This record gives sequence, structure tokens and C-alpha cells, in this order.
Amino acid sequence: MRLNKYLAHAGVGARRAVEELIVAGRVRVNGKTVRELATDVAAGSRVEVDNVPVRVATRKTYWIVNKPAGVMTTMSDPQGRRTIVDLIPRDFPRIVPVGRLDYDTSGVLLLTDDGDLANTLSHPRFGVDKTYRAVVRGRLLPSDMRELLEGVRLDEFRAAGAKVRVVASRADVTVLDITIHEGKNRQVRRMLESVEHPVVTLTRTRFGPIALGSLAPGQGRAPTARELAALRAVGSAATD
Ligand code: URA
Repeated sequence: MRLNKYLAHAGVGARRAVEELIVAGRVRVNGKTVRELATDVAAGSRVEVDNVPVRVATRKTYWIVNKPAGVMTTMSDPQGRRTIVDLIPRDFPRIVPVGRLDYDTSGVLLLTDDGDLANTLSHPRFGVDKTYRAVVRGRLLPSDMRELLEGVRLDEFRAAGAKVRVVASRADVTVLDITIHEGKNRQVRRMLESVEHPVVTLTRTRFGPIALGSLAPGQGRAPTARELAALRAVGSAATD
């Protein structure tokens, strides 16, 4: 951000007034007096006016989308497929997804420019619970549920036990809710495949404290204050 804008944002004064401060040599960036209005202030810089540190309370953006199937969880796609960029309002700052959903998976996805929170939420140590509504082939038997509960072996690792709840079941199809706290590539699909119930459709209905609710595919909303507080609590609870 440019220095004059930075100072104005920090509430030091109106644009004009802060420009006068800069020109007068009363502003230092990282210990050096700066008289150039167009100086760029890199993130993490120390800015002082008359030897008093100034800080901009940077506002972070958080956005929850219901990613439809057929959308990449990436900022661009060399193959020209739809990406989540198409689901972000145009006037938003650059926000990026926290974790990812497969191209074929729909459901709740959090996007933010809050790198610290994104790191915490994606870190395996904090193990945020994620719930998926899966439609799978065949009838899920109690023995399948037990296997999933105990944790199944996938190629490169052993998946931790999942919580599974059957919602509806027929001989040829089962609808179930499955909750995991890991996030390996295609993990739910591979777990269900390993008990021989391949996924037909997969929707993430919950990401930690955020429920998909009635958010229509392709639509977005800001988290509520309560959801945001609960997201932030994920890291603080785990680091205590
Ligand atoms: N597990 C999967 O298999 N796919 C997803 O998109 C998310 C979790």
C-alpha cells in the first residue's frame, strides 16, 4: 500500500494532511525518513510519525460459498474450466480458499485473505471436523460402518476413524453423513471406495462451525460474527 494511503487508513489524517507530514520529513518507514509520497509500504513494515508507531487495522475478508460440482477450487485453470474465482464478488480483495474440494464435490468452502486463520484451519494439528453428505452405491452394512469408524487403510496412510450416520438406505444406494478431521486428497471418496461403496455424489455440509444450511449452489455469504469467533477459537483452543 502507498505510504500516503497507509497513513490515511491508519487515521493519522486526511490524505492532504498526511502528504504534508511526509514531505516535511516527519514520517519514517523501517527507521528511514521518507519524503516520497508514492513510497510503497510492504506488509510488516514499521511506520512512525514523529517517532510514534502507526498501525493500520487491516480488515480481513471472509466469504463462504456453496461450491457447485463442476467448479475447480483454484484461482485459475489451464483447461478453462470454471473456478471459484467466478463465485467471488468482483469488488472483493483477493481471497483464497481454505483447503479444497474436488471438482466433482459441492458444498461449503471458506475463502479469506486472513493467512493466519487459513493456515490454522488447514493444519492437520487442529483437525477441523468436516462433514460430507455422500450418496454411495449399495447398502452400507454395519461391518462397513465399523471399518470406517475404526479407520481404513488408504494407499499412503491410514485414515483416522470417521463418524458415519446412515440417512437413508436401499439395496442399491445409501445416503450417509460422514465426518472426518483430516484432509487428504479425495479422502472421503477413497475411504468409501475402500469399503466398496463408491461415491455417486458428495457434498460438504459442514466445515468446522460453518454449516452449509440453505445456501444455494454458486451462492455466497459472509460468516456471522458467531461463526467467525468459532473459527478463530479453533486455533486458540488448540494452542492453549
Ligand atoms: N473428500 C473427498 O473425497 N473429496 C472432497 O472434495 C473432499 C473430501
